[in-house]
Amino acid sequence: MKTVKGKKERLIDDYGREIRSLRFSITSRCNLDCIYCHNEGEWRSGKRNREEISAELVIEIARVASAYFDIRKIKFSGGEPLMRDDLVDIIQGMRDFEDDISATTNGVFLKRYADELADAGLDRVNVSIDSLKEERYDFITSSSNNLPKVIDGIYSAIDAGLTPLKLNMVLLKGINEDEIADMIDFVRECNKRGAAILQLIELIPYFNPFMQNCEANFYAVEAELKSKASAIKTRRLQHRRKYFVDGVEVEVVHPIDNTEFCANCSRLRITSDGKIKPCLLRNDNLVPVESVDEMHIITKLKLAMQYREPFYKGKNSKT
Ligand code: 5AD
Repeated sequence: MKTVKGKKERLIDDYGREIRSLRFSITSRCNLDCIYCHNEGEWRSGKRNREEISAELVIEIARVASAYFDIRKIKFSGGEPLMRDDLVDIIQGMRDFEDDISATTNGVFLKRYADELADAGLDRVNVSIDSLKEERYDFITSSSNNLPKVIDGIYSAIDAGLTPLKLNMVLLKGINEDEIADMIDFVRECNKRGAAILQLIELIPYFNPFMQNCEANFYAVEAELKSKASAIKTRRLQHRRKYFVDGVEVEVVHPIDNTEFCANCSRLRITSDGKIKPCLLRNDNLVPVESVDEMHIITKLKLAMQYREPFYKGKNSKT
């Protein structure tokens, strides 16, 4: 790992990838049980982490990353981050030294907490919504009666200014892949209240043997978007492409076998039990953070950097 001397050190791995954001899974608990969920690369239901990282440690890791390495972008995920009743305190505890705090949520509790989260300092949310049809939504999430709550939650979050709000849609073959146009229409409706973006996400099937044949044809999806788009842009983060379709921004997240995706990875993850995770798709190189001591955290961040390597390296090569 290289560290560049300047006003602040920068965390750059041996592949030239600089860390610009931290992604904290703050709990592995969730009120839904999505059929495809990778649980941020941790274990699936039944084997969840019991120990949860303390609010104090989350805030200290973020503070050290900001103070020493100029990393001021934080994302919270889960499980469902709103399962933790101290999320508001955690956000409040870091709002003064972070530029961009966001959370990925399933949206079920969002209506209740949107204002409080925005007041605490949350900037934006991503809301997972894979279908607008109740039966399908229930099937995907293994739950019932939640879709209307999620839609209300989305509106509340937009009204609270948690924007641009991203709608995460994982494309599943034979389940929801015919709903992209409907979802674009829904985002257009959302846009009337405040900025919303559709994020189409390729299924990572490795975590669940039942999902092996559910990968939608992402190349076909992208070709269709391309044919309809008035403009196309590429985001620096993981080289994600954005298509502008009928006034709606559609971002495509396509990780599988995508060397560009890995080459542009600029995030470090922290697991719900307090381990630095250099790669979503690996669990053999975790670095536990065992104290809130500043030097300890710095040492562990640097150690995790040494373990970083792209999962997809060469042309179509899986390592
Ligand atoms: N493949 C792709 N994305 C996934 N997510 C969870 N599991 C998977 C998977 N197997 C992402 C989705 C969801 C967020 C919580 O995590 O984007 O919205």
